[in-house]
Amino acid sequence: MTKKILVTGGAGYIGSHTCVALIEAGFEVVVVDNLVNSSIESLRRVEKITGQFIRFYRGDITNKADLKRVFEDHNFYAVIHFAGLKSVADSVEFPLRYYQQNVFGTLCLLEAMQQQACSKIVFSSSATVYGEPASLPILETFPTNPQSPYGRSKLFIEQIIDDYCQAEKQASSIILRYFNPVGAHPSGEIGEDPLGIPNNLMPYICQVASGQREFLSIYGDDYATTDGTGVRDYIHVVDLAEAHVKAVDKINQVDQVQWFNIGRGQGYSVKDLIQAFEQTNGIRIKTSIQPRRDGDIAEYWADPSLARQELGWKATRDLKQMVKDAWHWQQKNPKGYEE
Ligand code: NAD
Ligand code: UFG
Repeated sequence: MTKKILVTGGAGYIGSHTCVALIEAGFEVVVVDNLVNSSIESLRRVEKITGQFIRFYRGDITNKADLKRVFEDHNFYAVIHFAGLKSVADSVEFPLRYYQQNVFGTLCLLEAMQQQACSKIVFSSSATVYGEPASLPILETFPTNPQSPYGRSKLFIEQIIDDYCQAEKQASSIILRYFNPVGAHPSGEIGEDPLGIPNNLMPYICQVASGQREFLSIYGDDYATTDGTGVRDYIHVVDLAEAHVKAVDKINQVDQVQWFNIGRGQGYSVKDLIQAFEQTNGIRIKTSIQPRRDGDIAEYWADPSLARQELGWKATRDLKQMVKDAWHWQQKNPKGYEE
């Protein structure tokens, strides 16, 4: 029988790509999303790519009645939990909103799962839970020290899920700590669609390339890195989506909770990313060196070997593919899903 997966936040950037990967792997997908940072159009596009209908609930995970309705209508094999707010800067300004949406939202979800005896959850965590690492690459066993309310909300959720899985005999969880997801589905049908001015590097570069923004601010060129600019472990969103399929495949064999870094294990600087974009897509990106951005760490990248050993997952798409697919999506959808 086809296994049904509930995807919270499934209309969002990573969620929509994961829906494609799940459907292609033979799962049935149900999505709950309040569309606070996404558009229903993304799911229509997922349907176009896969040829499969997606059952969608417009609902809020902090609303118990919304969740009850979803769980009463279906029996889920597992839940993949993306729903939440993700801006580090906003979380500093509105911490309560972040704890309410992310932490309380997860509590409501776990309660609804408990009531319906659904006991498997894959959770979207972030490399930001590590804070500044003492050495590189980062292993899952490194200490955690998140530097923002957003990062702390992720760590609190990890701990809540851990406690829950210790207490409930049937429960198990896989916690994926993503490094820097970028790129888009190669069809150009789905991709990242930030509201307003992008905070993140890749969508900003795309908007400079398309003429929507005049230049890219490089936040600091005096870090102790190869070329002075910040270094990150960029990972293609389709590789990331595939990690979720592997996690669902494995979750039945997990005893309580397992944590995995999801990155490529390779650091690239801001200048590397710009250069790859320019060379691959044949477009010049105008830049301006600006002061460092508050809270930024000079460099970090993952050791993803545990995910390779235990999940049988490995990223296969390189930086060239990431910048190519990001630009393809941008060109096809200059205003995101709005058109
Ligand atoms: P996104 O904003 O595109 O997707 C999140 C989705 O959740 C959106 O569709 C939004 O409408 C929905 N949502 C938010 N609050 C909700 C609520 N209360 N009820 C129902 N739906 C709600 O973000 P994304 O980049 O796809 O990220 C997905 C997850 O991965 C998030 O939990 C994020 O924190 C985590 N993550 C993202 C990154 C990244 O760089 N994109 C890195 C690490 C971790
Ligand atoms: N950067 C610029 N100019 C920009 C935007 C970013 O120079 O306009 C630089 C940053 O200083 C940093 C690098 O590009 O060195 C990457 O920055 P992003 O904003 O794209 O990504 P971050 O590493 O800051 O954070 C992202 C997500 C977080 C998540 C983290 C996980 O935004 O939510 O990855 O590693 F927690």
